[in-house]
Parts: sequence; C-alpha cells; structure tokens
Amino acid sequence: MSFYDKDVVSIRDLDRKQIDEIMKVSEKMVPYAMGEKRTKVLEGRILGNLFFEPSTRTRLSFESAAHRLGIDVIDVSEMSMTSISKGETLADTIRMVDAYCDVIVLRHPHEGAARLAAKFSENPVINAGDGAGSHPTQTLLDLFTIKRAKKKIGGLNIVLVGDLKYGRTVHSLIDALAVFGANLTFVAPETLQMPEDNVDHIKRKGADPYLTDKLENVISKADVLYVTRIQKERFPDPSEYNRVAGKYRIDNEMLREAKKDLVVLHPLPRVDEISPEVDNTPHAKYFEQAFNGIPVRMALLYMILGGEGL
Ligand code: NCD
Repeated sequence: MSFYDKDVVSIRDLDRKQIDEIMKVSEKMVPYAMGEKRTKVLEGRILGNLFFEPSTRTRLSFESAAHRLGIDVIDVSEMSMTSISKGETLADTIRMVDAYCDVIVLRHPHEGAARLAAKFSENPVINAGDGAGSHPTQTLLDLFTIKRAKKKIGGLNIVLVGDLKYGRTVHSLIDALAVFGANLTFVAPETLQMPEDNVDHIKRKGADPYLTDKLENVISKADVLYVTRIQKERFPDPSEYNRVAGKYRIDNEMLREAKKDLVVLHPLPRVDEISPEVDNTPHAKYFEQAFNGIPVRMALLYMILGGEGL
C-alpha cells in the first residue's frame, strides 16, 4: 500500500492519487465507524495520542477510530503531567513515546512541531494540528464530507469565512481544494485574511482565489460555505480579538439568498459563528462532518499501519 509507514505532517505531502485512495478506503470504513460491522484487524498495535492543546473531536475520533480497528491507545493530554514540565525537549519526549507505540498522533501549540517529531520518531507521526500551521487529517475529513454531499470537488464554488489568518484547518484545506480545482473565495476582515504565503502557494497550483470581507456579496453563488471560529487563543493582543469577534454570524436570514443545496461546514467547535437555528436546516452538515473524522482516521491508520483484508 502506498501509505504504509508514512508520516502525515502536511496535506502538501500527499498527492491527488493518495488523497483519492484515502477517500476510497474511508468509504469502506463507514459501516465499521458506525459499529454496524466489527473488526480487530489491527489488534496488538498501539497508538500514542499526544495532545498538548485542547481538543475534543480530533482526539476522541482518533481514539474511537483506533478502537474500531482493535488498536490500543496510550495518551497524555497535559504537558504539565509529562516530563516536558521538567524541562525535557519535545524531541526527547517523542523518542520515548516512539518506543512505546507504533504510531504517534501529535497536537502541539507550535507550528513545525509535527515536522520535528517526525524527524525524531522512527514510527509514523500524524499531525493533529500544529499551532496556526496545518491540520491535514481535518482536511481529509472535510474533503470526504464535501465529496459525499456534492459527489465532486472540482468546479464547486467554495467560500471560506472567518479567521483565515490563524485557522490551521483552512490553511490545509485550501491546498487540497486547489489541487482538486475548486473555485475559492476567502471572506475575512482584512486583519484576518489568508496569509500571503498560503495564497501564493495555491496560485502556483493554478487556483485564483477571490478575497473579500463581504460575505453577503458572495453567499448566493456558494456551493459550500466553510465557517471557522476566530482563533482567540492565537491573538497576541486581546483587544484585536474583541474588534473582530462576532463579525460573521450565519443565521437563516443570511442564508435566504443561498442556493437550496448549499452545504454549510465547520470544523467545530463553534462559538457564535453559526446560529443554532441553522442546525435544523438541510444546509447544516457540520455534525456529519465531525462523524466523518472516524472513518477517515480509521482509513489513515489502516493504511499507515499496513492493515490488510478489509
Ligand atoms: C479545529 C482546530 O483545532 O484547529 N478543531 C478541530 O480540530 N476540529 C478548529 C478550531 O479549533 O477552531
């Protein structure tokens, strides 16, 4: 299998063929993810979950994905409970954990932490979010959700709104969407627009994104609206956060102009970017999106650990 023993640090490490393969295997994992079918295909393997930043979905869905495949999980979730609080470097911690498990899943507040971990670990490392850097497994489940809802990705009008500066989910997602040939619109206040480096990168891949701060001008053309939380924890200055908090709020009134089959996604957690009244509309696909974390992460673990026979 082309994915055996591979690190997943950035979505840029995967080509279109590999992403397609992950989508295919993810589809096969759905009945297992739902508990309709059972397997212990990776029994005896151990996953090390290292979460040095808050997480609900990513952490629990990796854990659930592992259990659904028969993989055991060891974890730490508090830096203060590890020897990092005694001054141990991340490199040394990783070397240790590497010896205790077969695959490491790492979330860390510093951009580049996963790349560093992959350098020091013999076993594969999966990046579960590194600061404002990237979040490749979220991108895979986002793609899977779009593909399931829309049957395609290329040619769709995809509008990303919110904190595009600090949001790692969108940094990864646009790289993949550019490769698939989606039409991209970035909606954010000027201070939270997509960083120039990220825009330049996708332009080199052939994308031609439209940047604006006015959601109301672009919503009617959208096939997919990807809403993000303002990343409060990454603001160096809290007064800057207060200036932009609550700038975009998706409610039924805002969706009046939207296409009937518009799909609204959000990596979650949401604060107040999407009004709960939207949850009951056919547009809302964010809880399905959160569920899709299980089959997609199962597929990744299965391929990385060399699972066979499913
Ligand atoms: C995201 C993250 O951690 O980057 N959450 C997630 O993994 N589903 C988005 C966020 O925290 O806003």
